[in-house]
Amino acid sequence: MKILVTGGTGYIGSHTVVELQQEGFEVVIADNLSNSNIGVLDGIEQITGNRPLFELVDLTDATATRDLFSRHDDTRAIIHFAALKAVGESVEKPLEYYANNLNSLINVLVGARACQVPGLVFSSSCTVYGQAETLPVTENTPRRAAESPYGNTKMMCEDILKDVARVDPSLNVIALRYFNPIGAHPSARIGELPVGVPNNLIPYLTQVAAGIREELRVFGDDYNTPDGSAIRDYIDVVDLARAHVVAIQRLLEGKNTRNHEYFNIGTGRGLSVLEIIRAFERATGVKVNYRIVPRRPGDIEKVWADTTLANETLGWKATTPIEETLRDAWRWQQASR
Ligand code: UFG
Repeated sequence: MKILVTGGTGYIGSHTVVELQQEGFEVVIADNLSNSNIGVLDGIEQITGNRPLFELVDLTDATATRDLFSRHDDTRAIIHFAALKAVGESVEKPLEYYANNLNSLINVLVGARACQVPGLVFSSSCTVYGQAETLPVTENTPRRAAESPYGNTKMMCEDILKDVARVDPSLNVIALRYFNPIGAHPSARIGELPVGVPNNLIPYLTQVAAGIREELRVFGDDYNTPDGSAIRDYIDVVDLARAHVVAIQRLLEGKNTRNHEYFNIGTGRGLSVLEIIRAFERATGVKVNYRIVPRRPGDIEKVWADTTLANETLGWKATTPIEETLRDAWRWQQASR
């Protein structure tokens, strides 16, 4: 059964390709390699013994995307990861973000409809909730106006999918709202490959631990949280990848109750930045040099997921303990030096 994975050489995409292959799916990756490299295919092949088919395609190119679908008109489901994802960069380059993230989804949907692909899983984000008034957030927590063009593209893409699913009952969509994906494959063959200075906590932290950077700046210790640092729901990337497989299975088996569904994909547990540093030190025995600095503009104080719906409806649950996730992130950092 053929699954088209856009952005399949990226961080979450590559881990999902591994899980799909291990479940026996045939995977075709479409990626323009703008934020990933072709060597990821070697890592996937080393883990699964199976090299996925790769298509170098810019999905903002309508003709190229149509041609991709005509080469793969037996695709049974799509996982659409391909997108630009740096919050700060999106503030500086709003047009690039809107053009890339919206046009690629639109072109993929045109292709999906032309080939009558019945299922699509979309990478959404807990960013759609902003700073929620009540925690944990459920799928019914109201969405808030986005803080960044990046966040806005996630909201707009969710809305595009909702409108298209409404008029096309044969298209079944699941939007997975990821919390904070971290970690790497336990084999240390694939992981996150930040280009330049990392924006996100874990790649920055592991680079400090490895001596590549001098110190981790902890953005704020004056939040209204037990230790004053900000709280997030950190989800292991392999657990997250598995959520895509069960979402695909739900669509292919026609178990979805509506043709347009949302699920929170997190652990249900919030951890502060300082708790993460301590957990990393405990897990690896490596000390992290850090310093408290002022809050980062645009950051929310705290968010974590209510994952009841995903647990009960998808039969999925995050299971990897945080120490194991952080050990995997460290192993990957050491392997990729
Ligand atoms: N942090 C630090 N120091 C750093 C980097 C991060 O203290 O060097 C803190 C942040 O202030 C935040 C936490 O670590 O409190 C997590 O920060 P990340 O940058 O790793 O993740 P964010 O929660 O800011 O952003 C993530 C995704 C976005 C997504 C957002 C949704 O990276 O794509 O969650 O809320 F939009």
